Amino acid sequence: MNKTVETILSRRSVRNFSAKMISDQELDTIIQCGLYAPSAKNRQNWHFTVITNKERIDEISDLAVANMNKLGLNVSDEAHIFYHAPVVIVISSKIEGYSEVNAGCVVENMSLAAHSMGIGSCIIGQTRYLYHQSNKADANRLMRIPENFEHDIAICFGYPDGDIDEAKPRKPNVVEYIR
Ligand SMILES: Cc1cc2nc3c(=O)[nH]c(=O)nc-3n(C[C@H](O)[C@H](O)[C@H](O)COP(=O)(O)O)c2cc1C
Repeated sequence: MNKTVETILSRRSVRNFSAKMISDQELDTIIQCGLYAPSAKNRQNWHFTVITNKERIDEISDLAVANMNKLGLNVSDEAHIFYHAPVVIVISSKIEGYSEVNAGCVVENMSLAAHSMGIGSCIIGQTRYLYHQSNKADANRLMRIPENFEHDIAICFGYPDGDIDEAKPRKPNVVEYIR
């Protein structure tokens, strides 16, 4: 099996991170791989907010958890939507066709690049709760979303603390061929 296929098939979401920061070089590579994602009409109409400031990461998580609880989701106050990962990248886009698909390509590129370097990641959709009960401008300021951009998705990174499980089984009967 070639290395790329091996990386894809062995990637897992990581939710236990060591506090050790990943190196600047590794972070640059992850960002670069995100920037090299495909985008509809090659618009590259995305923006990445790279957050390594622990206080800011915690602040974003606390607001998401508070908003989930306001919505009655009963989340523990101790919960951390980024699992205390040392790096969070928030993806936002100009609202044009396919921006969400583009953002998906970005986070998958980043996740696979990280995994190939022994760095764990988890794609985080729960950052969207920042917009459910809070003022949009406040949420945008906290995650530094540029004007006229909308938040799509986030992804957190760090060295895995512990072993990574094997991939979960895949649902059968989802592939159909027309030959
Ligand atoms: C769009 C998207 C949003 C996700 N949001 C979250 C999230 O907020 N929190 C979380 O722990 N995992 C999140 N995940 C990770 C999924 O739960 C995970 O990919 C899935 O359970 C399959 O596990 P695997 O990634 O280990 O194969 C998200 C994944 C995707 C693609």
